Amino acid sequence: MIKLIIINGPNLNLLGIRETEIYGHKSFDSYFENLSFKFPDSKLEFYQSNSEGKLIDKLHEVGFSYDGIILNAAAYTHTSLAIADAVKAIKTPVIEVHISNIFKREDLRHISLIAPYCSGNISGFGLKSYELAIRSFL
Ligand code: DQA
Repeated sequence: MIKLIIINGPNLNLLGIRETEIYGHKSFDSYFENLSFKFPDSKLEFYQSNSEGKLIDKLHEVGFSYDGIILNAAAYTHTSLAIADAVKAIKTPVIEVHISNIFKREDLRHISLIAPYCSGNISGFGLKSYELAIRSFL
Protein backbone atom coordinates (compact mmCIF):
# COMPACT_ATOMS: atom_id res chain seq x y z
CA MET A 1 0.00 0.00 0.00
CA ILE A 2 1.40 3.37 -1.05
CA LYS A 3 2.21 5.61 1.92
CA LEU A 4 1.64 9.34 1.45
CA ILE A 5 1.60 12.30 3.80
CA ILE A 6 0.17 15.78 3.44
CA ILE A 7 2.21 18.35 5.34
CA ASN A 8 0.62 21.75 5.86
CA GLY A 9 2.50 24.80 7.08
CA PRO A 10 1.58 27.93 9.03
CA ASN A 11 -1.96 29.28 9.27
CA LEU A 12 -3.43 26.37 7.34
CA ASN A 13 -4.99 25.17 10.61
CA LEU A 14 -7.36 28.11 10.05
CA LEU A 15 -8.73 26.86 6.73
CA GLY A 16 -12.46 27.48 6.57
CA ILE A 17 -12.12 30.54 8.83
CA ARG A 18 -9.18 32.42 7.36
CA GLU A 19 -9.55 34.64 4.24
CA THR A 20 -12.40 32.50 2.95
CA GLU A 21 -12.56 34.47 -0.33
CA ILE A 22 -9.11 33.01 -1.12
CA TYR A 23 -9.04 29.69 0.71
CA GLY A 24 -12.69 28.67 0.82
CA HIS A 25 -15.09 27.71 3.61
CA LYS A 26 -14.05 24.13 4.25
CA SER A 27 -11.85 23.09 7.17
CA PHE A 28 -8.93 20.85 6.30
CA ASP A 29 -10.09 18.18 8.74
CA SER A 30 -13.40 17.68 6.91
CA TYR A 31 -11.66 17.77 3.53
CA PHE A 32 -9.10 15.21 4.73
CA GLU A 33 -11.81 12.84 5.96
CA ASN A 34 -13.28 12.92 2.47
CA LEU A 35 -9.88 12.33 0.88
CA SER A 36 -9.27 9.23 2.94
CA PHE A 37 -12.55 7.77 1.64
CA LYS A 38 -11.61 8.70 -1.93
CA PHE A 39 -8.29 6.88 -1.84
CA PRO A 40 -8.90 3.71 0.17
CA ASP A 41 -5.93 1.96 -1.43
CA SER A 42 -3.36 4.40 -0.14
CA LYS A 43 -2.28 5.06 3.41
CA LEU A 44 -2.86 8.77 3.73
CA GLU A 45 -1.60 10.82 6.67
CA PHE A 46 -1.84 14.48 7.52
CA TYR A 47 0.38 16.76 9.60
CA GLN A 48 0.13 20.49 10.23
CA SER A 49 2.42 22.84 12.11
CA ASN A 50 2.88 26.56 12.38
CA SER A 51 6.51 26.07 13.31
CA GLU A 52 9.33 25.94 10.78
CA GLY A 53 11.45 23.59 12.89
CA LYS A 54 8.59 21.13 13.41
CA LEU A 55 7.92 21.03 9.66
CA ILE A 56 11.60 20.25 9.09
CA ASP A 57 11.55 17.53 11.78
CA LYS A 58 8.52 15.95 10.08
CA LEU A 59 10.20 16.05 6.65
CA HIS A 60 13.23 14.27 8.15
CA GLU A 61 11.03 11.72 9.91
CA VAL A 62 9.04 10.66 6.83
CA GLY A 63 11.48 11.59 4.07
CA PHE A 64 13.37 8.29 3.91
CA SER A 65 10.52 5.81 4.17
CA TYR A 66 7.28 7.23 2.73
CA ASP A 67 6.39 6.99 -0.97
CA GLY A 68 5.39 10.61 -1.38
CA ILE A 69 5.03 13.93 0.40
CA ILE A 70 2.47 16.58 -0.52
CA LEU A 71 3.79 19.81 0.94
CA ASN A 72 1.98 23.09 1.35
CA ALA A 73 4.64 25.06 3.19
CA ALA A 74 2.32 28.12 3.06
CA ALA A 75 4.24 31.38 3.66
CA TYR A 76 7.45 29.43 4.35
CA THR A 77 7.41 28.51 0.66
CA HIS A 78 8.55 32.04 -0.08
CA THR A 79 11.00 32.53 2.77
CA SER A 80 12.46 29.33 4.19
CA LEU A 81 15.84 28.22 2.92
CA ALA A 82 15.84 25.73 5.81
CA ILE A 83 12.70 23.96 4.53
CA ALA A 84 14.11 24.06 0.99
CA ASP A 85 17.31 22.40 2.28
CA ALA A 86 15.24 19.74 4.07
CA VAL A 87 13.30 18.95 0.88
CA LYS A 88 16.60 18.70 -0.97
CA ALA A 89 18.11 16.45 1.72
CA ILE A 90 15.40 13.78 1.87
CA LYS A 91 14.81 10.89 -0.54
CA THR A 92 11.00 10.79 -0.75
CA PRO A 93 9.65 12.81 -3.69
CA VAL A 94 7.85 16.00 -2.70
CA ILE A 95 5.04 17.73 -4.59
CA GLU A 96 4.55 21.39 -3.76
CA VAL A 97 0.91 22.33 -3.42
CA HIS A 98 -0.93 25.64 -3.02
CA ILE A 99 -4.65 26.21 -2.65
CA SER A 100 -4.52 29.63 -4.30
CA ASN A 101 -2.77 30.41 -7.56
CA ILE A 102 0.37 31.99 -6.11
CA PHE A 103 1.26 33.45 -9.53
CA LYS A 104 -1.95 35.53 -9.57
CA ARG A 105 -1.11 37.09 -6.22
CA GLU A 106 1.51 39.55 -4.91
CA ASP A 107 4.97 39.40 -6.50
CA LEU A 108 6.61 38.05 -3.35
CA ARG A 109 4.40 34.95 -3.58
CA HIS A 110 5.69 34.19 -7.07
CA ILE A 111 8.95 32.99 -5.58
CA SER A 112 9.19 29.47 -4.19
CA LEU A 113 12.47 28.53 -2.54
CA ILE A 114 11.39 24.88 -2.37
CA ALA A 115 10.23 24.48 -5.99
CA PRO A 116 13.67 23.57 -7.41
CA TYR A 117 13.77 20.47 -5.17
CA CYS A 118 10.20 19.27 -5.76
CA SER A 119 9.18 16.75 -8.38
CA GLY A 120 6.17 18.91 -9.31
CA ASN A 121 4.03 21.90 -8.39
CA ILE A 122 0.26 22.29 -8.22
CA SER A 123 -1.20 25.70 -7.49
CA GLY A 124 -4.59 27.35 -7.78
CA PHE A 125 -7.15 24.53 -7.75
CA GLY A 126 -8.46 25.19 -4.27
CA LEU A 127 -8.44 22.17 -1.95
CA LYS A 128 -8.54 20.04 -5.10
CA SER A 129 -4.82 20.83 -5.50
CA TYR A 130 -4.15 18.18 -2.81
CA GLU A 131 -6.21 15.56 -4.63
CA LEU A 132 -4.38 16.22 -7.90
CA ALA A 133 -1.08 15.75 -6.10
CA ILE A 134 -2.23 12.44 -4.60
CA ARG A 135 -3.37 11.24 -8.03
CA SER A 136 0.00 12.06 -9.49
CA PHE A 137 1.62 9.67 -6.96
CA LEU A 138 -0.79 6.81 -7.68
C1 DQA B 1 -0.64 29.18 0.21
C2 DQA B 1 -0.11 30.43 -0.52
C3 DQA B 1 0.91 31.15 0.34
O1 DQA B 1 1.40 32.29 -0.36
C4 DQA B 1 0.27 31.61 1.63
O2 DQA B 1 1.24 32.23 2.46
C5 DQA B 1 -0.45 30.53 2.34
C6 DQA B 1 -1.20 29.54 1.58
C7 DQA B 1 -1.78 28.49 -0.57
O3 DQA B 1 -2.05 27.34 -0.27
O4 DQA B 1 -2.40 29.09 -1.45
O5 DQA B 1 -0.51 30.52 3.57
O6 DQA B 1 0.41 28.26 0.36
